[in-house]
Amino acid sequence: MLNEAQSWFDVLRREVKRSTGVVIETDRASFVASRLASVARDLGFPDSQHLCMALIGPRRAEVHAPIIDAMVVNETSFFRDKTPFETFCNTVLPAMLAARANVRALRIWCAACSTGQEAYSIAMTLDEEARALSGWRVEITGVDVSQTAIEAARAGAYNQFQVQRGLAVSQLLRYFRRSRDMWTISEHIRERVRFERMNLLDTTPRAGAFDVIFCRNLMLYLDAHGRRTLLERLSGALTPDGYLFLGATETALGSEDFQPCPNQPWLARPRSAGAQAQRPHLRVVGA
Ligand SMILES: C[S@@+](CC[C@H](N)C(=O)[O-])C[C@H]1O[C@@H](n2cnc3c(N)ncnc32)[C@H](O)[C@@H]1O
Repeated sequence: MLNEAQSWFDVLRREVKRSTGVVIETDRASFVASRLASVARDLGFPDSQHLCMALIGPRRAEVHAPIIDAMVVNETSFFRDKTPFETFCNTVLPAMLAARANVRALRIWCAACSTGQEAYSIAMTLDEEARALSGWRVEITGVDVSQTAIEAARAGAYNQFQVQRGLAVSQLLRYFRRSRDMWTISEHIRERVRFERMNLLDTTPRAGAFDVIFCRNLMLYLDAHGRRTLLERLSGALTPDGYLFLGATETALGSEDFQPCPNQPWLARPRSAGAQAQRPHLRVVGA
């Protein structure tokens, strides 16, 4: 009996790790079973154990996405932790506006965006800076491994509980319209953000595709190998003078690619950015 119980849980743990990098602790079997109970019911399985065993059977394609969606932690809120958004607005944005003045374009990646609150918080922050950004092309791209989360992000409709977490009343009235019990993000904010499904551990965008990356509160669910892989991929996607925002309890300390900022362990810059700053007179000869 114990072996049988272990085996469905092992199948599940292996699959979640393989598909997302997320590690499920070995003592979480009963938590996981209750979390998957409604998915099992919806798909016609007698219980979570049978549902998980279907990952290694002919119904794999049918059960895979619903299981992964149920197992990832989508916890998020608007302007989560506040300080990173203040730092983005007061420090990072002015620095990037100066650095990109010649091209007047800024590309921001919200990696592991969950149901969209973080990406829309960035878009609202930029809207407040509309004057400084007049004439600029700004792209915000949100990605997440969960299809359900991405669909919710695209819909941009939030309930009362969700909008109460992190939004000031003035922001709610300015950037949302209410219909029945839901608040929908206004069109001019929504059209600035593009969302797509992506597994960050097995896909890398074009090298240097983004000037600023938010990848907050994913790393804490990964093991050391997953964290290293993630930071390598983020490093590939970031411009050499860009900025990486991590979650409040996360840091790039120990990474070969990133250097955490002093007193802000959740903000990091490519190591090459430090090297460039120390070589201000370097010129490309014969280019
Ligand atoms: C706790 S939420 C963080 C949301 C948001 N960044 C924040 O800090 O509020 C973690 C998100 O990471 C996503 N995720 C987990 N593994 C992923 C992977 N390999 N690639 C992309 N997203 C992943 C989950 O689906 C979930 O939406």
